[in-house]
Amino acid sequence: MAERLLRGRLLSFRRKPAGPEDTGAFDYTEDGALLLQDGRIAARGDFAEVQAKAPEAPVTDHRPHLILPGFIDPHIHFPQLQVVASWGAELLDWLENYTFPAEAAYADPAHARAMADPFLDRLLEHGTTTAAVYCSSHACSAEALFSAAERRRMRLIAGKVMMDRNCPEGVRDTAQASYDDSEALIGRWHGRGRLGYAISPRFSVTSTAAQLAAAGALASEHPDCHRQTHISENHAEIAAVKRLFPDARDYLDTYERAGLLGPEMLLGHCLHLETREIARIAETGSRAVFCPTSNLFLGSGLFDRAGLERAGVVTAVATDIGGGTSWSMLDTLAEGYKALALRGERLHPFEAFHWATRGNAEALGLTDRIGTLDEGTEADLVVLDPFATPAMRLRMDRAETLAEELFVLQIMGGRDAVAATYVDGTVVT
Ligand code: GUN
Ligand code: ZN
Repeated sequence: MAERLLRGRLLSFRRKPAGPEDTGAFDYTEDGALLLQDGRIAARGDFAEVQAKAPEAPVTDHRPHLILPGFIDPHIHFPQLQVVASWGAELLDWLENYTFPAEAAYADPAHARAMADPFLDRLLEHGTTTAAVYCSSHACSAEALFSAAERRRMRLIAGKVMMDRNCPEGVRDTAQASYDDSEALIGRWHGRGRLGYAISPRFSVTSTAAQLAAAGALASEHPDCHRQTHISENHAEIAAVKRLFPDARDYLDTYERAGLLGPEMLLGHCLHLETREIARIAETGSRAVFCPTSNLFLGSGLFDRAGLERAGVVTAVATDIGGGTSWSMLDTLAEGYKALALRGERLHPFEAFHWATRGNAEALGLTDRIGTLDEGTEADLVVLDPFATPAMRLRMDRAETLAEELFVLQIMGGRDAVAATYVDGTVVT
Protein backbone atom coordinates (compact mmCIF):
# COMPACT_ATOMS: atom_id res chain seq x y z
CA MET A 1 0.00 0.00 0.00
CA ALA A 2 1.30 3.47 -0.95
CA GLU A 3 1.15 5.39 2.33
CA ARG A 4 2.42 8.80 3.44
CA LEU A 5 1.80 11.27 6.21
CA LEU A 6 1.78 14.98 5.35
CA ARG A 7 2.32 17.40 8.22
CA GLY A 8 1.32 21.06 7.96
CA ARG A 9 -1.42 23.58 8.61
CA LEU A 10 -4.66 22.19 7.18
CA LEU A 11 -7.49 24.27 5.72
CA SER A 12 -10.66 22.74 4.30
CA PHE A 13 -14.18 24.12 3.89
CA ARG A 14 -17.44 22.54 5.07
CA ARG A 15 -19.70 25.00 3.29
CA LYS A 16 -19.73 28.46 1.72
CA PRO A 17 -18.82 31.03 4.39
CA ALA A 18 -21.69 33.40 5.10
CA GLY A 19 -19.19 36.21 5.69
CA PRO A 20 -15.91 37.18 7.38
CA GLU A 21 -17.14 36.06 10.80
CA ASP A 22 -18.26 32.61 9.66
CA THR A 23 -15.31 30.61 10.99
CA GLY A 24 -17.58 27.58 11.37
CA ALA A 25 -17.57 27.19 7.59
CA PHE A 26 -14.09 25.67 7.60
CA ASP A 27 -11.76 23.39 9.53
CA TYR A 28 -8.33 24.78 10.30
CA THR A 29 -5.74 22.63 12.09
CA GLU A 30 -2.52 24.34 13.16
CA ASP A 31 -0.34 21.22 13.59
CA GLY A 32 -2.29 18.92 11.35
CA ALA A 33 -1.69 15.82 9.32
CA LEU A 34 -3.20 13.94 6.43
CA LEU A 35 -2.66 10.23 6.05
CA LEU A 36 -2.58 9.42 2.33
CA GLN A 37 -3.24 5.85 1.31
CA ASP A 38 -3.49 4.70 -2.30
CA GLY A 39 -4.46 8.13 -3.61
CA ARG A 40 -7.06 8.83 -0.90
CA ILE A 41 -7.13 10.86 2.28
CA ALA A 42 -7.43 8.04 4.80
CA ALA A 43 -7.28 10.21 7.92
CA ARG A 44 -7.12 13.89 8.88
CA GLY A 45 -6.58 15.57 12.23
CA ASP A 46 -3.94 16.69 14.69
CA PHE A 47 -0.52 15.37 13.79
CA ALA A 48 -0.03 13.23 16.89
CA GLU A 49 -3.45 11.66 16.56
CA VAL A 50 -3.09 10.82 12.86
CA GLN A 51 0.46 9.57 13.24
CA ALA A 52 -0.69 7.14 15.92
CA LYS A 53 -2.85 5.49 13.24
CA ALA A 54 0.12 4.86 10.94
CA PRO A 55 3.34 5.05 12.96
CA GLU A 56 5.36 3.47 10.13
CA ALA A 57 4.23 5.86 7.40
CA PRO A 58 6.96 8.15 6.04
CA VAL A 59 6.35 11.81 6.96
CA THR A 60 6.66 14.82 4.66
CA ASP A 61 6.80 17.91 6.84
CA HIS A 62 5.31 20.92 5.07
CA ARG A 63 5.27 23.16 8.14
CA PRO A 64 4.86 26.14 8.25
CA HIS A 65 2.99 25.94 4.94
CA LEU A 66 -0.73 25.52 4.46
CA ILE A 67 -2.16 22.33 2.95
CA LEU A 68 -5.41 22.79 1.02
CA PRO A 69 -7.41 20.76 -1.45
CA GLY A 70 -6.00 21.28 -4.96
CA PHE A 71 -7.51 24.17 -6.87
CA ILE A 72 -10.23 23.48 -9.42
CA ASP A 73 -10.45 25.47 -12.66
CA PRO A 74 -13.91 25.00 -14.18
CA HIS A 75 -13.34 26.88 -17.47
CA ILE A 76 -10.13 26.76 -19.51
CA HIS A 77 -9.18 26.20 -23.16
CA PHE A 78 -6.48 23.64 -23.98
CA PRO A 79 -5.65 24.95 -27.50
CA GLN A 80 -5.28 28.50 -26.21
CA LEU A 81 -2.09 28.02 -24.22
CA GLN A 82 -0.30 30.01 -26.94
CA VAL A 83 -3.10 32.58 -27.28
CA VAL A 84 -2.67 34.19 -23.84
CA ALA A 85 -1.53 37.84 -24.15
CA SER A 86 -2.83 38.53 -27.67
CA TRP A 87 -3.14 42.28 -28.09
CA GLY A 88 -5.86 44.70 -28.83
CA ALA A 89 -9.14 42.94 -29.54
CA GLU A 90 -12.49 42.31 -27.98
CA LEU A 91 -14.19 38.94 -28.01
CA LEU A 92 -15.31 38.35 -31.62
CA ASP A 93 -12.17 39.85 -33.23
CA TRP A 94 -9.98 38.08 -30.70
CA LEU A 95 -11.58 34.76 -31.69
CA GLU A 96 -11.15 35.44 -35.40
CA ASN A 97 -7.67 36.97 -35.35
CA TYR A 98 -5.92 34.88 -32.71
CA THR A 99 -7.96 32.01 -31.34
CA PHE A 100 -9.35 30.21 -34.38
CA PRO A 101 -5.95 30.21 -36.16
CA ALA A 102 -4.28 28.80 -33.03
CA GLU A 103 -6.98 26.15 -32.63
CA ALA A 104 -6.74 25.14 -36.32
CA ALA A 105 -3.25 23.80 -35.61
CA TYR A 106 -4.81 21.09 -33.40
CA ALA A 107 -6.08 19.30 -36.49
CA ASP A 108 -2.60 17.78 -36.42
CA PRO A 109 -2.54 15.01 -33.79
CA ALA A 110 1.22 15.44 -33.35
CA HIS A 111 0.74 19.11 -32.40
CA ALA A 112 -2.10 18.22 -30.01
CA ARG A 113 0.08 15.54 -28.38
CA ALA A 114 3.04 17.92 -28.11
CA MET A 115 0.90 20.52 -26.29
CA ALA A 116 -0.97 18.23 -23.89
CA ASP A 117 1.83 17.77 -21.34
CA PRO A 118 2.83 21.46 -21.31
CA PHE A 119 -0.85 22.30 -20.71
CA LEU A 120 -1.17 19.93 -17.74
CA ASP A 121 2.22 21.04 -16.40
CA ARG A 122 0.99 24.65 -16.29
CA LEU A 123 -2.13 23.61 -14.34
CA LEU A 124 -0.16 21.61 -11.79
CA GLU A 125 2.61 24.16 -11.25
CA HIS A 126 -0.12 26.64 -10.33
CA GLY A 127 -1.71 24.20 -7.86
CA THR A 128 -4.69 23.30 -10.06
CA THR A 129 -5.45 19.60 -9.90
CA THR A 130 -8.79 19.42 -11.75
CA ALA A 131 -10.13 21.46 -14.66
CA ALA A 132 -13.08 21.55 -17.03
CA VAL A 133 -11.41 21.99 -20.39
CA TYR A 134 -12.47 22.95 -23.89
CA CYS A 135 -10.38 21.17 -26.51
CA SER A 136 -10.36 22.24 -30.18
CA SER A 137 -13.02 20.98 -32.59
CA HIS A 138 -10.73 18.12 -33.62
CA ALA A 139 -11.32 14.83 -31.82
CA CYS A 140 -7.57 14.25 -31.73
CA SER A 141 -7.12 17.24 -29.41
CA ALA A 142 -9.40 15.63 -26.82
CA GLU A 143 -7.68 12.26 -27.35
CA ALA A 144 -4.31 13.86 -26.67
CA LEU A 145 -5.46 15.64 -23.53
CA PHE A 146 -7.33 12.67 -22.04
CA SER A 147 -4.34 10.38 -22.70
CA ALA A 148 -1.94 12.77 -21.00
CA ALA A 149 -4.26 13.29 -18.00
CA GLU A 150 -4.74 9.53 -17.66
CA ARG A 151 -0.99 8.98 -17.53
CA ARG A 152 -0.84 11.47 -14.62
CA ARG A 153 -3.94 10.05 -12.92
CA MET A 154 -5.50 13.53 -12.88
CA ARG A 155 -9.21 14.11 -12.43
CA LEU A 156 -10.06 16.01 -15.60
CA ILE A 157 -13.24 16.96 -17.45
CA ALA A 158 -12.88 17.84 -21.14
CA GLY A 159 -14.63 17.82 -24.47
CA LYS A 160 -14.06 18.71 -28.10
CA VAL A 161 -15.80 21.96 -29.04
CA MET A 162 -18.69 21.73 -31.46
CA MET A 163 -18.75 24.62 -34.00
CA ASP A 164 -20.38 24.39 -37.41
CA ARG A 165 -20.67 28.00 -38.64
CA ASN A 166 -19.20 31.50 -38.48
CA CYS A 167 -15.67 30.19 -38.23
CA PRO A 168 -12.90 29.19 -40.66
CA GLU A 169 -12.93 25.81 -42.34
CA GLY A 170 -9.92 24.62 -40.34
CA VAL A 171 -11.93 24.62 -37.11
CA ARG A 172 -15.43 24.01 -38.49
CA ASP A 173 -17.25 20.70 -38.08
CA THR A 174 -20.84 19.78 -38.91
CA ALA A 175 -23.77 18.94 -36.68
CA GLN A 176 -23.51 15.25 -37.57
CA ALA A 177 -19.70 14.99 -37.40
CA SER A 178 -19.63 16.79 -34.04
CA TYR A 179 -22.30 14.42 -32.72
CA ASP A 180 -20.40 11.37 -33.97
CA ASP A 181 -17.01 12.54 -32.68
CA SER A 182 -18.40 13.53 -29.27
CA GLU A 183 -20.27 10.23 -28.99
CA ALA A 184 -17.12 8.25 -29.79
CA LEU A 185 -15.06 10.28 -27.30
CA ILE A 186 -17.69 9.74 -24.59
CA GLY A 187 -17.59 6.01 -25.24
CA ARG A 188 -13.83 5.93 -25.03
CA TRP A 189 -13.12 8.33 -22.16
CA HIS A 190 -16.14 9.20 -20.02
CA GLY A 191 -15.86 7.53 -16.62
CA ARG A 192 -12.51 5.95 -17.48
CA GLY A 193 -10.33 6.29 -14.38
CA ARG A 194 -10.66 9.87 -13.20
CA LEU A 195 -11.78 11.32 -16.54
CA GLY A 196 -15.14 12.75 -17.51
CA TYR A 197 -16.57 14.14 -20.73
CA ALA A 198 -18.09 17.58 -21.21
CA ILE A 199 -20.40 18.03 -24.21
CA SER A 200 -19.08 21.36 -25.51
CA PRO A 201 -21.02 23.42 -28.06
CA ARG A 202 -18.71 26.48 -28.20
CA PHE A 203 -21.48 29.12 -28.20
CA SER A 204 -24.56 29.99 -30.22
CA VAL A 205 -22.61 32.25 -32.58
CA THR A 206 -20.70 29.25 -33.95
CA SER A 207 -23.41 26.57 -33.68
CA THR A 208 -26.50 26.14 -35.85
CA ALA A 209 -29.76 25.18 -34.19
CA ALA A 210 -29.19 21.71 -35.65
CA GLN A 211 -25.83 21.43 -33.88
CA LEU A 212 -27.26 22.64 -30.57
CA ALA A 213 -29.99 20.02 -30.98
CA ALA A 214 -27.29 17.40 -31.57
CA ALA A 215 -25.57 18.54 -28.36
CA GLY A 216 -28.93 18.30 -26.57
CA ALA A 217 -29.41 14.76 -27.90
CA LEU A 218 -25.99 13.79 -26.54
CA ALA A 219 -26.91 15.36 -23.20
CA SER A 220 -30.10 13.32 -22.94
CA GLU A 221 -28.32 10.13 -24.00
CA HIS A 222 -25.45 10.76 -21.55
CA PRO A 223 -27.04 12.61 -18.63
CA ASP A 224 -24.02 12.17 -16.37
CA CYS A 225 -21.71 14.00 -18.78
CA HIS A 226 -21.03 17.65 -18.06
CA ARG A 227 -21.99 20.31 -20.59
CA GLN A 228 -20.13 23.57 -21.11
CA THR A 229 -20.61 26.64 -23.25
CA HIS A 230 -20.31 30.43 -23.27
CA ILE A 231 -23.08 32.96 -22.80
CA SER A 232 -23.57 36.70 -22.58
CA GLU A 233 -19.93 37.73 -22.45
CA ASN A 234 -20.01 40.68 -24.81
CA HIS A 235 -22.63 42.98 -26.36
CA ALA A 236 -21.64 42.28 -29.99
CA GLU A 237 -21.85 38.54 -29.27
CA ILE A 238 -25.34 38.91 -27.78
CA ALA A 239 -26.50 40.97 -30.79
CA ALA A 240 -25.11 38.31 -33.14
CA VAL A 241 -27.03 35.56 -31.33
CA LYS A 242 -30.23 37.60 -31.55
CA ARG A 243 -29.69 37.96 -35.32
CA LEU A 244 -28.90 34.27 -35.78
CA PHE A 245 -31.86 33.05 -33.67
CA PRO A 246 -34.65 35.57 -34.32
CA ASP A 247 -37.25 33.26 -32.76
CA ALA A 248 -35.40 32.70 -29.49
CA ARG A 249 -36.71 34.50 -26.42
CA ASP A 250 -33.14 35.43 -25.49
CA TYR A 251 -29.59 34.04 -25.68
CA LEU A 252 -30.20 31.42 -22.97
CA ASP A 253 -33.23 30.16 -24.88
CA THR A 254 -30.97 28.91 -27.69
CA TYR A 255 -29.51 26.44 -25.16
CA GLU A 256 -32.75 25.88 -23.27
CA ARG A 257 -34.65 24.83 -26.41
CA ALA A 258 -31.92 22.33 -27.18
CA GLY A 259 -32.34 20.71 -23.75
CA LEU A 260 -28.88 21.71 -22.55
CA LEU A 261 -29.65 23.37 -19.21
CA GLY A 262 -29.33 21.65 -15.84
CA PRO A 263 -26.86 21.19 -12.98
CA GLU A 264 -24.33 19.59 -15.36
CA MET A 265 -24.20 22.77 -17.49
CA LEU A 266 -21.33 25.19 -16.94
CA LEU A 267 -22.20 28.58 -18.45
CA GLY A 268 -19.05 30.63 -18.98
CA HIS A 269 -19.16 34.40 -18.32
CA CYS A 270 -22.87 35.30 -17.71
CA LEU A 271 -22.08 39.04 -17.69
CA HIS A 272 -25.05 40.76 -19.33
CA LEU A 273 -27.94 38.40 -18.62
CA GLU A 274 -31.59 39.40 -18.83
CA THR A 275 -33.99 38.86 -15.92
CA ARG A 276 -35.64 35.81 -17.49
CA GLU A 277 -32.27 34.25 -18.19
CA ILE A 278 -31.11 34.62 -14.59
CA ALA A 279 -34.35 33.08 -13.32
CA ARG A 280 -34.06 30.10 -15.69
CA ILE A 281 -30.39 29.52 -14.86
CA ALA A 282 -31.37 29.41 -11.19
CA GLU A 283 -34.43 27.19 -11.76
CA THR A 284 -32.55 24.68 -13.89
CA GLY A 285 -29.56 24.62 -11.52
CA SER A 286 -27.18 25.51 -14.35
CA ARG A 287 -23.86 26.99 -13.15
CA ALA A 288 -22.55 30.50 -13.87
CA VAL A 289 -18.77 30.62 -14.24
CA PHE A 290 -16.96 33.88 -13.44
CA CYS A 291 -13.74 34.42 -15.44
CA PRO A 292 -12.34 37.66 -14.04
CA THR A 293 -8.96 37.95 -15.78
CA SER A 294 -10.62 37.25 -19.13
CA ASN A 295 -13.52 39.63 -18.50
CA LEU A 296 -11.12 42.46 -17.71
CA PHE A 297 -8.57 41.60 -20.40
CA LEU A 298 -11.14 41.46 -23.22
CA GLY A 299 -13.05 44.39 -21.74
CA SER A 300 -16.17 42.21 -21.63
CA GLY A 301 -17.85 43.41 -18.44
CA LEU A 302 -18.35 42.86 -14.73
CA PHE A 303 -19.83 39.69 -13.23
CA ASP A 304 -22.71 40.31 -10.81
CA ARG A 305 -21.95 37.64 -8.25
CA ALA A 306 -24.20 39.10 -5.56
CA GLY A 307 -27.15 39.48 -7.93
CA LEU A 308 -26.80 35.98 -9.37
CA GLU A 309 -26.39 34.34 -5.96
CA ARG A 310 -29.34 36.30 -4.58
CA ALA A 311 -31.38 34.86 -7.46
CA GLY A 312 -30.25 31.37 -6.42
CA VAL A 313 -27.61 30.72 -9.10
CA VAL A 314 -24.68 28.47 -8.19
CA THR A 315 -21.46 30.22 -9.26
CA ALA A 316 -17.92 29.08 -9.99
CA VAL A 317 -14.66 30.92 -10.68
CA ALA A 318 -12.18 30.08 -13.44
CA THR A 319 -9.13 31.25 -15.39
CA ASP A 320 -10.47 31.04 -18.97
CA ILE A 321 -6.97 30.73 -20.40
CA GLY A 322 -6.33 32.11 -23.08
CA GLY A 323 -8.88 34.97 -22.90
CA GLY A 324 -7.80 34.89 -19.27
CA THR A 325 -4.29 36.04 -18.52
CA SER A 326 -3.15 33.87 -15.63
CA TRP A 327 -3.09 30.14 -15.02
CA SER A 328 -3.16 30.78 -11.30
CA MET A 329 -6.39 30.43 -9.36
CA LEU A 330 -4.81 32.74 -6.75
CA ASP A 331 -4.27 35.44 -9.39
CA THR A 332 -7.80 34.75 -10.61
CA LEU A 333 -9.14 35.36 -7.10
CA ALA A 334 -7.06 38.56 -6.89
CA GLU A 335 -8.54 39.82 -10.14
CA GLY A 336 -11.94 38.59 -9.00
CA TYR A 337 -11.59 40.73 -5.89
CA LYS A 338 -10.90 43.81 -8.06
CA ALA A 339 -13.65 43.09 -10.59
CA LEU A 340 -16.22 42.59 -7.82
CA ALA A 341 -14.95 45.73 -6.06
CA LEU A 342 -16.01 47.71 -9.14
CA ARG A 343 -19.54 46.55 -8.31
CA GLY A 344 -19.14 47.57 -4.68
CA GLU A 345 -18.60 44.00 -3.41
CA ARG A 346 -15.66 42.77 -1.37
CA LEU A 347 -14.62 39.16 -1.89
CA HIS A 348 -13.49 37.96 1.54
CA PRO A 349 -10.56 35.49 1.55
CA PHE A 350 -12.66 32.83 3.30
CA GLU A 351 -15.17 33.06 0.45
CA ALA A 352 -12.38 33.20 -2.13
CA PHE A 353 -10.58 30.07 -0.91
CA HIS A 354 -13.87 28.25 -0.56
CA TRP A 355 -14.78 29.22 -4.14
CA ALA A 356 -11.59 27.89 -5.73
CA THR A 357 -11.81 24.58 -3.86
CA ARG A 358 -15.07 23.23 -2.44
CA GLY A 359 -17.20 25.83 -4.24
CA ASN A 360 -15.93 24.84 -7.68
CA ALA A 361 -16.22 21.17 -6.71
CA GLU A 362 -19.85 21.82 -5.83
CA ALA A 363 -20.44 23.54 -9.17
CA LEU A 364 -19.04 20.41 -10.84
CA GLY A 365 -21.07 18.07 -8.60
CA LEU A 366 -17.87 16.49 -7.30
CA THR A 367 -17.71 17.35 -3.57
CA ASP A 368 -17.79 13.65 -2.70
CA ARG A 369 -14.43 13.25 -4.46
CA ILE A 370 -12.49 16.52 -4.57
CA GLY A 371 -12.46 20.04 -3.16
CA THR A 372 -12.02 19.25 0.55
CA LEU A 373 -9.63 17.40 2.85
CA ASP A 374 -12.42 15.10 4.01
CA GLU A 375 -11.52 11.51 4.80
CA GLY A 376 -12.29 9.18 1.92
CA THR A 377 -11.86 11.84 -0.77
CA GLU A 378 -9.14 11.89 -3.39
CA ALA A 379 -5.71 13.15 -2.34
CA ASP A 380 -5.33 16.10 -4.74
CA LEU A 381 -3.66 18.88 -2.75
CA VAL A 382 -1.89 22.19 -2.97
CA VAL A 383 0.71 23.34 -0.44
CA LEU A 384 0.88 27.13 -0.13
CA ASP A 385 3.71 29.26 1.23
CA PRO A 386 2.59 32.72 2.42
CA PHE A 387 6.27 33.73 2.79
CA ALA A 388 7.23 32.77 -0.76
CA THR A 389 8.71 36.10 -1.89
CA PRO A 390 10.51 39.01 -0.19
CA ALA A 391 7.47 41.22 -0.79
CA MET A 392 5.17 38.62 0.77
CA ARG A 393 7.51 38.22 3.76
CA LEU A 394 7.43 41.98 4.37
CA ARG A 395 3.66 42.00 4.20
CA MET A 396 3.33 38.88 6.37
CA ASP A 397 5.29 40.63 9.15
CA ARG A 398 2.13 42.63 9.71
CA ALA A 399 -0.42 39.85 9.24
CA GLU A 400 -1.91 38.54 12.46
CA THR A 401 -4.93 36.44 11.54
CA LEU A 402 -5.61 33.52 9.23
CA ALA A 403 -7.89 35.77 7.17
CA GLU A 404 -5.09 38.30 6.66
CA GLU A 405 -2.66 35.57 5.70
CA LEU A 406 -5.11 34.10 3.19
CA PHE A 407 -5.71 37.54 1.72
CA VAL A 408 -1.94 38.02 1.24
CA LEU A 409 -1.91 34.69 -0.63
CA GLN A 410 -4.98 35.68 -2.67
CA ILE A 411 -3.62 39.06 -3.72
CA MET A 412 0.16 38.49 -3.84
CA GLY A 413 0.63 34.72 -4.05
CA GLY A 414 0.19 33.66 -7.68
CA ARG A 415 2.45 30.89 -8.83
CA ASP A 416 5.21 31.79 -6.37
CA ALA A 417 3.10 30.67 -3.44
CA VAL A 418 2.68 27.08 -4.68
CA ALA A 419 5.23 25.07 -2.71
CA ALA A 420 3.96 21.67 -3.86
CA THR A 421 1.07 20.00 -5.68
CA TYR A 422 -0.15 16.44 -5.09
CA VAL A 423 -2.20 14.41 -7.54
CA ASP A 424 -3.74 11.12 -6.46
CA GLY A 425 -1.59 11.07 -3.35
CA THR A 426 1.72 11.70 -5.12
CA VAL A 427 3.74 14.91 -5.19
CA VAL A 428 4.01 16.20 -8.78
CA THR A 429 5.58 19.67 -8.42
N1 GUN B 1 -16.81 32.58 -26.57
C1 GUN B 1 -16.73 31.60 -27.49
N2 GUN B 1 -15.52 31.03 -27.53
C2 GUN B 1 -14.79 31.66 -26.60
C3 GUN B 1 -13.44 31.51 -26.14
O1 GUN B 1 -12.67 30.69 -26.62
N3 GUN B 1 -13.05 32.35 -25.15
C4 GUN B 1 -13.89 33.28 -24.60
N4 GUN B 1 -13.42 34.06 -23.63
N5 GUN B 1 -15.14 33.43 -25.01
C5 GUN B 1 -15.59 32.64 -25.99
ZN1 ZN C 1 -13.95 30.28 -22.58
